[in-house]
Amino acid sequence: MSYASDTDRPVAFVTGASAGTGREIALALGAAGYDLAMVARRTAEMEAVAETVRAQGRRALVLTADVRDAQAIENALDSFLDWSRNRVDVVVNAAGYTGPLSPEIGDFSIDEFDSTVATNLRAPFIVLSRLLPIMRAAKAGRIVNIGGNHGIRGRAGRSSYSASKWGLRGLSRSAALEAGPDGVTVNYIAPGPIAVPRMKENWRKLAVSRGLSEEEALKLYVADMGIPLGRPSEMEDIVAMVLYLVGEGGRNVTGQELVVDGGATL
Ligand SMILES: NC(=O)c1ccc[n+]([C@@H]2O[C@H](COP(=O)([O-])OP(=O)(O)OC[C@H]3O[C@@H](n4cnc5c(N)ncnc54)[C@H](OP(=O)(O)O)[C@@H]3O)[C@@H](O)[C@H]2O)c1
Repeated sequence: MSYASDTDRPVAFVTGASAGTGREIALALGAAGYDLAMVARRTAEMEAVAETVRAQGRRALVLTADVRDAQAIENALDSFLDWSRNRVDVVVNAAGYTGPLSPEIGDFSIDEFDSTVATNLRAPFIVLSRLLPIMRAAKAGRIVNIGGNHGIRGRAGRSSYSASKWGLRGLSRSAALEAGPDGVTVNYIAPGPIAVPRMKENWRKLAVSRGLSEEEALKLYVADMGIPLGRPSEMEDIVAMVLYLVGEGGRNVTGQELVVDGGATL
């Protein structure tokens, strides 16, 4: 691996940057002027993001790791800190896994539960364990954890997901309390359903299985989810919230749950 020389640009570390919302967050931070390090399992997808970021004159580092593997994250963090020379301004934990869909407690395995918790809760903890002390020592930094509105409400058939996102909320608040005196903010974004390619595919399948148009299927889904504003979030809705939290406007906001779900949890 080759390392470029130091620059004065701020540095962002983003997990889950190979797809969906994390990918859009990574691209937006690159466009906003950050040098960017990314973590996920799919290398080629992250390389494509890195190419875009490099074409804009920033540095980009692709780190392939399964975040359920503690040692793999530690190795990625070693490479990252070597590359950034211990500089880190923004951390976004966006890697996430929904876990078993629909089965109720008793109908899925402990391994499945562990896998969901390892992705959604333990991985951000490992990342914070390494990067938060560095930010605190630097007396600056912004951390954004992408949770979900199921970290605020329960949902039958999503117990492991809800529990993991609920835990991430507790981790975020506690980290905010610890790091506040050093000027580091830690916040939690709680999206409802986001129109990512993965979800759009689910809605297409719903349309086929019910004999509906895609528009009708989406309406049915939105009604089922009880979303007052009547639409899922778009990825840019979450990106906008991240940019707000890491920008000047977010400097006095910490320990918050910013719910972006069209009002579904009201
Ligand atoms: N989409 C929604 O409706 C929705 C709603 C609420 C909250 N969220 C949360 O928003 C975040 C982004 O979700 P999304 O739906 O936009 O993304 P997505 O399309 O499901 O992609 C998930 C991302 O997480 C990474 N990831 C998952 N498991 C991983 C693992 N074991 N190791 C490394 N990386 C892993 C994936 O990378 P690889 O596959 O390349 O490893 C990918 O980059 C997640 O935290 C999710 O829980 C999403």
